[in-house]
Amino acid sequence: MPIDVTAIREREFPWTARGDAIFLDHASTGPLPERTRRALAEHGLRRAEPFRLTADDFFPTLQRARDAAAALIGAPPGTVALMTNTSHGVNLAARALPYGRGEVILSTAGEFPANVYPWIAAARERGADFRMLPLANGFPDEAAILHAIESDPRVRGVAVSWVSFWNGYRFDLDALGAACRRHGKWLFVDAIQGVGASDLDVVRANVDVLACGGQKWLLSPWGTGFCYVRKELVTSLEPKEVGWMAQPATSDFNRFLEYDPTWFDDARRFEVVTLDFVNFAAMAASLSLFLELTQAAVGARVRALVERAVAFASANEGVELMSAADPAHRAGVVALRPRDVAAASGRLKDAGLAHAVREGNIRIAPHFYNTEAELDGALRLLSG
Ligand SMILES: Cc1ncc(COP(=O)(O)O)c(C=O)c1O
Repeated sequence: MPIDVTAIREREFPWTARGDAIFLDHASTGPLPERTRRALAEHGLRRAEPFRLTADDFFPTLQRARDAAAALIGAPPGTVALMTNTSHGVNLAARALPYGRGEVILSTAGEFPANVYPWIAAARERGADFRMLPLANGFPDEAAILHAIESDPRVRGVAVSWVSFWNGYRFDLDALGAACRRHGKWLFVDAIQGVGASDLDVVRANVDVLACGGQKWLLSPWGTGFCYVRKELVTSLEPKEVGWMAQPATSDFNRFLEYDPTWFDDARRFEVVTLDFVNFAAMAASLSLFLELTQAAVGARVRALVERAVAFASANEGVELMSAADPAHRAGVVALRPRDVAAASGRLKDAGLAHAVREGNIRIAPHFYNTEAELDGALRLLSG
């Protein structure tokens, strides 16, 4: 069912009616829906006076957040671990996935630093090579990556962002995952710029490990996120950062001293507690909105807005589209280059239009609750 934008704005984003700002910068930090603000306030109040906390405020809350994240990406039970940001998931992948001396982890130029530095550090430690293939015409060279997967026996795995933070290029994950699976390589995906904006089925795409922060498209607090590990892989990956509740032995708070270092056989083995129960209650609230609307409907709405921006650029000589020409490689981020980027950004700012400038382009990142009129207002200001 299509999203009733007017109703959702009234109910979940009442500040949009005040006209203080028009927010088109979800690739940076997403706003919190009303239900999430309520969850933060109510749970936060009980946290301030801990004698008010109930059993449900603790581990059932975390389980709701895991379940909601899993439902959003088509992950089976027991495959999602809560993490405080994307980077923890990247580090888990870089430190726990199998590769060794002389082997190659394949990536692409243009990656966000969060998906670069942990790999460089981990590869250096093991004498492996984190290789970023050059861009082709400004975009990840999927053909070259597929060719290396098929032909280079030193390649042990692939680590890419599903969606580029700066030009919005969306990988064909189904094709990439299928190639990796066929040739016995693992696939790691940084999905923070994709999940929440676009539909994803991690099982169909053969993703091995996926990391995602909650703070952008998932409209969740800072300090929230999750990591998916393919079911068959969970029990073979050793946690590198070890939490005190990563083992069933710690579940009984009356028998802490009966140490048994056997990990959980689900993804809780990768969690490092204590996590922020208040923030994860809020993340669960935000994700419930996506699950109610359905990720398919949210994705369709985001895509429609992005296509509108693309159509504007193609009809407007003074604004160049820097995102992929092929809609199959577009997601929620659209990069546009007006003749004078600084001046255009200034006009947007003066008009209260939240956007970003990334790698020399105006980055517009609309979400499902933005209106066509809001987007059009921004686009008009681009051409001056
Ligand atoms: C592709 C990508 N990965 C990761 C991050 C952030 O990582 P973290 O959640 O660890 O701050 C960003 C944006 O800030 C991003 O665009």
